[in-house]
Amino acid sequence: MKDRLRQNHAVDFQDLMGRFTLDASSEFLFGTSLKCLSMGLPYPHNVAQVPSEWSTITGQGANRFMEALANAQQVVADRHVLGIYWPLTEIFEDKALKPMKVVSTFIDPLVRDAIKRRKEHSSSEKDQVVEDHETLLDHMTKVTADEKILKDETLNIMIAGRDTSTATLTMAVYFLTQYPEAEARLRHEILTLVGPTRQPTFEDIKDMKYLRAVINETLRLYPPVPLDVRAAKEDVVFVSPDQSQPPLFIPAGATILYSLYMMQRRPDLWGPDAEEFSPERFLDERLSKYLLKKPWIFLPFSGGPRICLGQQFAYNEMSCLLIRLLQTFSSLTLDADAQPPDSRPPAEWAGKPGRQGMEKIRPMTHLTLYSQGGLWIKATENISIR
Ligand code: HEM
Repeated sequence: MKDRLRQNHAVDFQDLMGRFTLDASSEFLFGTSLKCLSMGLPYPHNVAQVPSEWSTITGQGANRFMEALANAQQVVADRHVLGIYWPLTEIFEDKALKPMKVVSTFIDPLVRDAIKRRKEHSSSEKDQVVEDHETLLDHMTKVTADEKILKDETLNIMIAGRDTSTATLTMAVYFLTQYPEAEARLRHEILTLVGPTRQPTFEDIKDMKYLRAVINETLRLYPPVPLDVRAAKEDVVFVSPDQSQPPLFIPAGATILYSLYMMQRRPDLWGPDAEEFSPERFLDERLSKYLLKKPWIFLPFSGGPRICLGQQFAYNEMSCLLIRLLQTFSSLTLDADAQPPDSRPPAEWAGKPGRQGMEKIRPMTHLTLYSQGGLWIKATENISIR
């Protein structure tokens, strides 16, 4: 990022975060980073001459993995939209097969190696406990040697943790580009509690209230899982807290789609400024007035028995990244010229009430939320991290 900015090129922060979260999760799951960050970053569309070596980077190494993973996920998202009818559109071809072949060339050897290691070093004593520095894959080989289960489970966690954290970090930085006073306050907290160069610790992060508020406010306005679904196992009646409303009967088997995106912007639940980006709402009197009274109005990680398993991992990963980013850079700005034309908000959004009239990017969703065309930013370099 530093190199690109020094060449006066904007950086696609969304792409960068996609690489960072993939490297972080592959290291945590398999003990081996896919090294997507080392592959070279894309150039903005408005660069007159892209260096010739760039064409040899796309479609190679970890970039090939990233492209295939994105294609496979798109196929799954399309199937989701088509519902039960999707098999009709794939009678002659399983559209996920080709990209998944590429994904498998990266994942299968890691899974096979882990199974082999377990066979060679299995001990009944060690197999009962979680060992220090053990990867999730290594731990799971204590439970099964089934290659398919191990691959599916690790890929599931990789995908659950990757796009969601990428979306939050992307939108958090988008907000920092739009609200310089929030960037300044966050930077002040970082410099006061961690300093300009030190690596943050878990203890530091626990004390950083404004940082947590910035992340939560981002998760409120742009929940990475904007739409979720549940099915009723049995007939159920929901009584409305509003006496004037009739109870709701939900028959067994009914599927209920619910939108966190809409719920987390409702003025009746969050106050008249619900559409404003205001991290302070998680710190000032608004906290007890709204959220503490009704904790279920804020559900970016869902809740109950199927709450996100990676919530603490995500908060730490995102906090660490934002601390390092603001130690290194200030004056984060959106480079509107570098945004591809189709990624800009449509003209008819101008003057619309709420966030729609304010946004400078085009938020979209497939299974998770993203910024169409990326998030192209510039920033001023502060000091080097030793
Ligand atoms: C900002 C980051 C994240 C957000 C907003 C998020 C959000 C969610 C949501 C809403 C669910 C519930 C989905 C449902 O039941 O319909 C979920 C489940 C899950 N998440 Fe996350 N997640 C994040 C990061 C992570 C990370 C980093 C990991 C792993 C390291 C992870 C692993 C999981 C797993 C395994 C489940 C399934 C839990 C179950 O069904 O029992 N998530 N997440």
